[in-house]
Amino acid sequence: MTASIASRARILTGDTPTGRLHLGHWVGSLENRVRLQDQYDCYFLIANMHAYTTRAEKAVDVRRDTLEIAKDWLSVGIDPERSTLVLQTEIPAIAELSWYFAMLLPFNRVMRNPTLKAEIEAKDLGDHYSFGFPLYAVGQCADILAFRAELVPVGEDQKAHIEMCREVARSFNRIYSGVDPTTKDDDAVANGGVFPIPSALLGRISRLIGTDGKHKMSKSLDNAIFLSDDTATILKKTKKVVTGRQSATDPGVIENNALFQYARAFMTDTARYAELETLYTAGQIGDGDVKKEVAGAIDTFLAPIRERRAGFEGTQGDARILEILREHTSRANAVAEETLRMAKAAMKLDYGARTISF
Ligand code: TRP
Repeated sequence: MTASIASRARILTGDTPTGRLHLGHWVGSLENRVRLQDQYDCYFLIANMHAYTTRAEKAVDVRRDTLEIAKDWLSVGIDPERSTLVLQTEIPAIAELSWYFAMLLPFNRVMRNPTLKAEIEAKDLGDHYSFGFPLYAVGQCADILAFRAELVPVGEDQKAHIEMCREVARSFNRIYSGVDPTTKDDDAVANGGVFPIPSALLGRISRLIGTDGKHKMSKSLDNAIFLSDDTATILKKTKKVVTGRQSATDPGVIENNALFQYARAFMTDTARYAELETLYTAGQIGDGDVKKEVAGAIDTFLAPIRERRAGFEGTQGDARILEILREHTSRANAVAEETLRMAKAAMKLDYGARTISF
């Protein structure tokens, strides 16, 4: 290795533990994470505090899902030797920075965040969501900035959060570090800012359609193929994919067709993929035949992931995951505490230096 770990730019991204991860997570962000592990100093955060914003009464479920996320990550090839797993609730600097950042964001700016609005609608939260719910968007700025990350691999739906994070970083640098507002984003730190202005890195498919053929793939909409699904389940779910095509001889439409999105994403034989497109648009192949091939491609892709996951099942698996989380959280705290010290010094809050142990 030529560059030392400390000299590599940092990535921070994460998932909220709401259940097992699915193919949408893979194409949106996981794939980029796995790919960039050598180039960047990577921090992958389990947003278990955020899980309580909508499931405060489901502590047992949140704990189970927290371990499931870690298992999914390790199964897809996130390497605990190269990347750091971050358990959000055990990083006090994140909660503290959230408070300071909340003061830099107008309340109405947060409430206009389109991702929050979409979630309120999708989860049917009406006007009875908790105070903590919109606060999570501010917390997400702190997740990223606590690690002074430069790159945030996320799905399309998270872009609005990253934009808000960029605004917070710019405001902080301007107000507390005296960075001139005309400074280019890339030069923020060179000009004395505490925080780099992070960029979102979107996946190769910005929005994977669910098996309902309509909505974004999502656990809550019951239209997801999970990374841990077995062969039979994959086949069953793929067979149900809604394409809207009436008969096998109708000219098929590729655009916005979930089946072809999956085919493009997971078939490794690109010549066969091109052939399928031609046959389908000419009305020379039925949906059923395409579905079988696509299910096979997804299964081939998921087989090694499933196999690795099997190594983490049971109480022994849980113990191994908890051990990794503890070790990594202590590493993560070293970085986040350093950031907090820098931020507090800029804010004239440098009353003393604390150390935490975990
Ligand atoms: N809100 C993200 C999601 O639900 C998870 C998340 C929390 C996150 N903190 C983050 C993503 C920081 C990127 C960066 O998917």
